Amino acid sequence: MKTYLVTGAAGFIGANFIKYMLAKHDDIKIVVLDALTYAGNLATIANDIDNERCYFVKGNICDRNLIDQLLANYRFDYIVNFAAESHVDRSIEVPQLFLQTNILGTQNLLDAARGAWVNGKDENGYPTWRKGVRFHQVSTDEVYGSLGAEGFFTEETPLNPHSPYSASKTSADMIVMAYHDTYKMPVTITRCSNNYGPYQFPEKLIPLIIKNILEGKRLPVYGNGTNVRDWLYVDDHCKAIDMVLHQAEDGAIYNIGGHNEMQNIDIVKLTIATIRRIMTENPSYRQYLKKKELNEAGEIDIEWMNDSLISFVKDRLGHDMRYAIDPSKISRELGWLPETKFEDGIVKTIQWYLDNQEWVKNVTSGNYQNYYDNMYKNR
Ligand code: NAD
Ligand code: TYD
Repeated sequence: MKTYLVTGAAGFIGANFIKYMLAKHDDIKIVVLDALTYAGNLATIANDIDNERCYFVKGNICDRNLIDQLLANYRFDYIVNFAAESHVDRSIEVPQLFLQTNILGTQNLLDAARGAWVNGKDENGYPTWRKGVRFHQVSTDEVYGSLGAEGFFTEETPLNPHSPYSASKTSADMIVMAYHDTYKMPVTITRCSNNYGPYQFPEKLIPLIIKNILEGKRLPVYGNGTNVRDWLYVDDHCKAIDMVLHQAEDGAIYNIGGHNEMQNIDIVKLTIATIRRIMTENPSYRQYLKKKELNEAGEIDIEWMNDSLISFVKDRLGHDMRYAIDPSKISRELGWLPETKFEDGIVKTIQWYLDNQEWVKNVTSGNYQNYYDNMYKNR
């Protein structure tokens, strides 16, 4: 029986990760630690927390006493750190919060783990570590900066972040490696491209566009919409982390991506077309539309649902042009391959949002409207 501390698992990827792990492994125990910020939602994992295989603790990764207590109460074999402030646009508004959570929070976890996991010293004065323990840092391709029209990020690409978010994630990666190099701490890092799938907070491109379409609102596309992101279905990311945790060497860094580059404008157009197709094939989904004008056939009209909803708005400051991952190291060394094709994953994701409007309502019931108005008012 292995015991995991998974931070940030009330958020998008962490929640998908614990669902994936609990379904895949019988012999594991997971303790979720999450501060439940605007991005964390307990309802997302309520069915997973059974207080037998999965426990929930509300708390901040910056809280040293709490982390020490958890490490004393549970004999963790793995710490998987998803907890972060994760939205680039917010990092432009409040950079310091990103530094606090993403850098200092990570260092706090590392240091508490060092306190709990070190069991002696070797002849050169390096700490020795309890057998089988590992700290895994969930990082991002954004640490590499931005690409031009050609080329891919490999693990050898120099770190060159631009946004406060990516700079904070880069700093976290460097402090993780510093613990490895200085204390020989058993760590691994994965740097993944943009994820999509169920439970993503509707501040990120795909769920925000879905939400706006259903509300008949304009679809804000930054700049001219030609920025490129490399999209990966969230389960494929979870699978990669599971493999790295169990198969990788200490100190290893892996890029994760599925060679699925898309321009933002194409993602938005595809989302419009997919929702329209689903609502044409199954008109009962039209009940989720805010606008309920009837057409001549007496059905809720969807003629307005087309590319004219797109609105090109002021660009994001320092907007990275293109991200693209070369995943050959993880494929070659660990045998990882993405399983979900984008054409299937995007339909599954849109269908999930249509079927889970209550979840969307729930997570956007707080400050979301204020956030949206502030973020988009001058665009
Ligand atoms: P998210 O914003 O959906 O979730 C973050 C979670 O962390 C939330 O549940 C939040 O409550 C929690 N949290 C925030 N601050 C905390 C703190 N101080 N203490 C404890 N919990 C805290 O983020 P996500 O999209 O699920 O991303 C998870 C991780 O994956 C992040 O580290 C992010 O940098 C990384 N990542 C994300 C993507 C992506 O496309 N979303 C891609 C690559 C890497
Ligand atoms: P996002 O989902 O915020 O992820 P990231 O910035 O981490 O890549 O944004 C994805 C892309 O979509 C990015 O190039 C910015 C763009 N974008 C828009 O054009 N409009 C929007 O309203 C948002 C949120 C993002």
